[in-house]
Amino acid sequence: MKETILITGGAGFVGLNLLDFLLKLNKYKVIILDNLSSGNLSLFKEILEKHGVIYSENLSDDVSVIFCKRDIRDKNLDDIIKKSDYVVHLAAQTGVIPSIENPFKDADVNVLGTLNLLNYSVKYGIKRFVFSSSAAPLGEQTPPLNEEKIPSPLSPYGASKLAGEGYCKAFYGSFGLETVVLRFSNVYGIYSYHKGSVVAEFYRRIIKGEPIFIYGDGEQTRDFIYAGDLSRAIVKAIEKRQIGGEIFQLGTGVETSVNKLVEYIRDIVENEIRVEYKPERKGEIRRNYTSIEKAKKILGFNPEIDLKKGLRLTYDWFKEKN
Ligand SMILES: NC(=O)c1ccc[n+]([C@@H]2O[C@H](COP(=O)([O-])OP(=O)(O)OC[C@H]3O[C@@H](n4cnc5c(N)ncnc54)[C@H](O)[C@@H]3O)[C@@H](O)[C@H]2O)c1
Repeated sequence: MKETILITGGAGFVGLNLLDFLLKLNKYKVIILDNLSSGNLSLFKEILEKHGVIYSENLSDDVSVIFCKRDIRDKNLDDIIKKSDYVVHLAAQTGVIPSIENPFKDADVNVLGTLNLLNYSVKYGIKRFVFSSSAAPLGEQTPPLNEEKIPSPLSPYGASKLAGEGYCKAFYGSFGLETVVLRFSNVYGIYSYHKGSVVAEFYRRIIKGEPIFIYGDGEQTRDFIYAGDLSRAIVKAIEKRQIGGEIFQLGTGVETSVNKLVEYIRDIVENEIRVEYKPERKGEIRRNYTSIEKAKKILGFNPEIDLKKGLRLTYDWFKEKN
């Protein structure tokens, strides 16, 4: 019998990519729990159609995919968690700016929501709980980022993700729940139309014929990981034995400046690109890329889609969706 993976936030960008990947893999059943605050049900349905899979909103139906419109803070998640073998916890308040505007809401979703799920996971003997963290808990660091750096968050979002990491470790220590923390670098790819991240923002504007904005001199760097590669890493984090309580940085290990990114995009798009340089944004990290040595060694993770190829795949999708 197939085991079941619960994806919280499964109607969002990373979740839809993971769903797509899992349906291709055809090894697991999937339950999606999402309150649709930013998730997209029509993309979800599109992915199911692509794979010829039907879904139900009724947990007792014997289908490969179940969708539950619920909130991770709900106190009635027993029915969902008891049907699940693994939890991939992606649902979150994901923005730095909203976290500064309303740190309490950020903490409510990211800290209390995570704690709620961890609690249910202990109650129903979840075999592995994978938590999506980010580089934000680390704050400004001398790159490359790695698992040894001492966290020093700059935003409430970074602090709430760090709290989530702490609770994961604590639930492993106190209850033996097999938690694994994955710190994603900048994720880009298909199904990201709603995202405010740089690649999605650039493509939306370029396709509309609008100028793109670069804040500062454009020499700030990031580590861009394609969402399909990230999905492979998440599945490895579910399947690899004896990694309970561990943290993994996930990225590509490649440092790319925003100017370089625009150069790659110029080679892909038909439209002319107008770049407007704006004053540097306060608090923006200058250099940021990730060592993935630990993920390579222990998870056997190697990114397969390089930035040029990933940008091409993403652009084709954006154009089609436009
Ligand atoms: N995209 C990135 O570059 C990136 C980088 C680092 C970390 N992450 C983390 O990865 C995870 C997924 O991010 P994403 O880019 O897919 O974001 P997203 O906003 O596209 O997806 C988040 C999903 O969670 C759902 N959600 C939000 N609050 C909820 C709640 N209280 N209950 C139930 N569902 C809720 C939303 O409706 C949405 O479908 C997040 O935890 C994010 O912090 C993302």
